[in-house]
Amino acid sequence: MLLTEQYHEDMSVFHVNTLPRRNYYIPFSDFEKAVSYRRRTESDRFQSLNGNWFFTYFPSFQAVLDRNLEDIWLEKSEEVVVPSTWQETGYESHHYLNERFAIPYDPPLVPRENPCGVYWRNIRVSESDRKNFKFHLNFEGVDSCFYLWINQQFVGYSQISHSLSEFDISNYLVSGQNRVTVAVLKWCDGSYLEVQDKFRTSGIFRDVYLVKRDKVAIHHYLLHQTVDVASRTAQLSIEILDPTSSIKEVDYCIYNSSGIEIRRGKGKEIALDNVLLWSAETPYLYTVMLRFGSEWIRERIGFRRIEIKNNILYLNGQPIRLYGVNHHDSRPQTGPVVCYEEQLQDLKLMKEHHFNAIRTAHYPKSPEFYELCDEYGFYVLSESDLEMHGIVAIYGRGGYQNYNEMAQNPLFRLAIQDRTESGIIPFQNRSSIIMWSLGNESGFGDNFERAASLAKKIDPTRLLHYEGFFHADETGDDRLLDVISRMYASVEDIREHYLQEARKPFLLCEYSHAMGNSCGDLKAYYDLMQQYPTFIGAFVWEWCDHAAESIIDGRATYLYGGDFGERYHDGHFCVDGLVSPSRQPHTSLKEYQQIHRPLRASWQDNTLRIWSDYIFLELNKAVDIRIEHLVNGEVSASFLVNELSLPPQQSVCLSLPFDCGKTDLRESLLITYYWSDGFINDYLQGKLVAVEELVLQEHPLKLNSKTAKKLSLDWRVEESASSLRLLANDANELCFDLTTGMLTKFVIDGELKCRSGGKWTIWRAPIDNDRHLLSLWEEAGFEQTQQRLLSYQMEKTTDEIHLTFCQKLYPAYRQAVLEINSQWVIRDDGQVRLEAVLHKNKEYPALPRIGMRFTLPVSYQKVDYVGYGPNESYSDKHHSSYLGTFSTDIDSLWENYLYPQENGSHWSSYCVSVSGEKESLTIQSLSDMTFSFNYSRYSIEEITKAQHAIELKGDNELHLVIDAAHSGVGSASCGPALDEQYQIAATSYVLRLQMS
Ligand code: GAL
Ligand code: MG
Repeated sequence: MLLTEQYHEDMSVFHVNTLPRRNYYIPFSDFEKAVSYRRRTESDRFQSLNGNWFFTYFPSFQAVLDRNLEDIWLEKSEEVVVPSTWQETGYESHHYLNERFAIPYDPPLVPRENPCGVYWRNIRVSESDRKNFKFHLNFEGVDSCFYLWINQQFVGYSQISHSLSEFDISNYLVSGQNRVTVAVLKWCDGSYLEVQDKFRTSGIFRDVYLVKRDKVAIHHYLLHQTVDVASRTAQLSIEILDPTSSIKEVDYCIYNSSGIEIRRGKGKEIALDNVLLWSAETPYLYTVMLRFGSEWIRERIGFRRIEIKNNILYLNGQPIRLYGVNHHDSRPQTGPVVCYEEQLQDLKLMKEHHFNAIRTAHYPKSPEFYELCDEYGFYVLSESDLEMHGIVAIYGRGGYQNYNEMAQNPLFRLAIQDRTESGIIPFQNRSSIIMWSLGNESGFGDNFERAASLAKKIDPTRLLHYEGFFHADETGDDRLLDVISRMYASVEDIREHYLQEARKPFLLCEYSHAMGNSCGDLKAYYDLMQQYPTFIGAFVWEWCDHAAESIIDGRATYLYGGDFGERYHDGHFCVDGLVSPSRQPHTSLKEYQQIHRPLRASWQDNTLRIWSDYIFLELNKAVDIRIEHLVNGEVSASFLVNELSLPPQQSVCLSLPFDCGKTDLRESLLITYYWSDGFINDYLQGKLVAVEELVLQEHPLKLNSKTAKKLSLDWRVEESASSLRLLANDANELCFDLTTGMLTKFVIDGELKCRSGGKWTIWRAPIDNDRHLLSLWEEAGFEQTQQRLLSYQMEKTTDEIHLTFCQKLYPAYRQAVLEINSQWVIRDDGQVRLEAVLHKNKEYPALPRIGMRFTLPVSYQKVDYVGYGPNESYSDKHHSSYLGTFSTDIDSLWENYLYPQENGSHWSSYCVSVSGEKESLTIQSLSDMTFSFNYSRYSIEEITKAQHAIELKGDNELHLVIDAAHSGVGSASCGPALDEQYQIAATSYVLRLQMS
């Protein structure tokens, strides 16, 4: 027998022989190294055990139990690189599940077929090291639990996937070669508490390392800070929380953020003055060097004061808002295995896009992540590794009625407390963490009231969060929770909340679900936060798309739930981030960046004023601004402000060296580009952090058309039962199909204008946010429509032909959804005009769009337009775009969503021209009414059908849609329904175009 006792199905034992929890730190022997290191690997006390381990996979732990260690070591094994997951190394296939348990529900039991991966490797320990040091073996993340042996001896056990487990293995080691063996189980009783919506993975997925400690060493200490903002003084107290340690003294040495030594001494109370305070905008860190015995430990501390007064969140005496994002560890090649550089890459990208806060959804991060947050400046809401959402699936017990079952059941009490401790204790010295969260979506009950008091006992200095209280019954007590937290509340819900007395600060721990083409509602929430000072923050769900990369036909593609032959999965619901799996920003991220820009411009009394929304940051020549004055679509003057200096919350008037106040201009726009000069954050050097347009005077603009030949055509009409042809010499022809009213030929002056046109559509390739509407749309039959020309009249004047059409558009098996009265005017100069009034049948629900389709030859790849660009834009998602004249190509218009869907539209356009080498089709609005357009290689039908970007092949045509109206995008995939103002629900719409 391998083990005499088993712990993974026991809800009273979670750790065996682990050291008591402590704050995370890495000791050094050498002061010089300790004071300046970048990575912990530089410590002589740190020995990484990442890298190759021998690995044997057993489909069931039972088979392992029958063996002894020698048998296991002799077993055929392969080498795997730690950290990794079995899904990545190929021992198991991927499995994505949202809120369901991955195993049958019978806690604390887990399936008997419990896969087990045994990892083993040798380590050498020298005779002298063994004499002089203690050896602590650390695991930063193992999913779901593990048993540990050193040489032949069983050492211990631990669980909670995202937690630090530390073992003192000194007494198990011999001088010379030693063998570490770890048996990782796929399931344990903790699996019922880790139902986070993500790819479910197994294995040692975070770093493993040895730390050599002095025989007499400190174990756990805390740094407490009190900051007096007015006098800029701070008190730092060192609390040694180690009753058994004989170390009672500390030598310290403190350097300010410029590296200048400001204090040196012995003792546990340190007073500092002239302190530069830490904030997300000004992440000043003091280096606190601590010597306990002969070990040096570096702590980097930001002095800051967090308070709630009158339900407003204050940092350093100033009200702040948390502009946040939920962050999972997820990479397309490695899943939850994320390296230091990757974590840093995410943080830099967040900074660039004006996030100042992160919620660690839904488990603690690696310790290095928090250190980076201190350094780069983020307010962190750090969450415990706890989610019991699966309970809502218990059969026959009423779904969400059942939400609080585990939260109330004493069986889970200790496990929840264990997770509260493991989520807090290691990270208490991190300045960036301002709030703890007890977990996610686990209901509410006595277990959480206890967890809350435990959290407050461990750390009374920080705020406490738990959204699950929303589901509490009438006995629920939230006195220890510092905020009222909601997820996906609508703007209306929030207004309503504010009609009642706000008991506590309000925050959204999740909102604006960024799945696919999404985040149409961001501005509304931003505005609400400005309106209500006690609305202290909101965290977008979520940072990145989760997907697994796979190479198919030499091309990387991203796979999600259902792509691995699983029976139960949640499809692509995990593909819901602001960035793609490879960290390409989606347009939602750009939208966020623009809405949350810290610098703003306004135009009043003929002057341009720049405002700083920074709260702490004095812009000391840190931003370059370029201002362009556009007249009628062309830059008429530009001006560069080098190195703008501006105190926080202040504004400055810029006098422009040109006059843009003249009223005789047609269209007059002022565009302000903000460039970071890298003064504050060198990694932002040269980055465009916002573009802002001030429309001084809007006027429908055209594209400068190439000087066309003056035509003077003499149209001849040929009419048959099925078609109407207008011909003028050999080089001009328009042909209408008289059954539908569609345009089947359109040639002017020998130029093919389009292959087909005049086809009405109400369908868009559904975006993820349409998913709750799909059954409604399916029922209404919107996807397949038939168009019919009911009647037409022709009238010829001296220089024009007028065709008046009466058309209907029908869903395949229902009454008409649109009635269309249109008039085509074909002029003798070759111009074609269309004026259409589209009446929507009121009985139908809101439509995806109302548009007219055209197909073009594949050579028409160039696109010029006047409208909202350069990013895709919709009625409720256009802040990152601005009104301008853009010249691009069809591929640049395409926004590549992993799950193909409507994308790349340009809202509020006056004109679009698509062209090939010589030929072109130009469509422009006839009045000041604008349209949206899409131009794509793929038809709406093809995009609708495809489930992965790689499936899109295109046909032999390019597809243009000119929309009289296009539904907003909202964020309803998990959130409120699209706001009515962005729905296509009115009774009539108009399209007035000129085509040439
Ligand atoms: C929330 C949950 C997140 C995620 C999201 C949907 O309810 O807290 O973990 O599942 O929905 O993407
Ligand atoms: Mg969930």
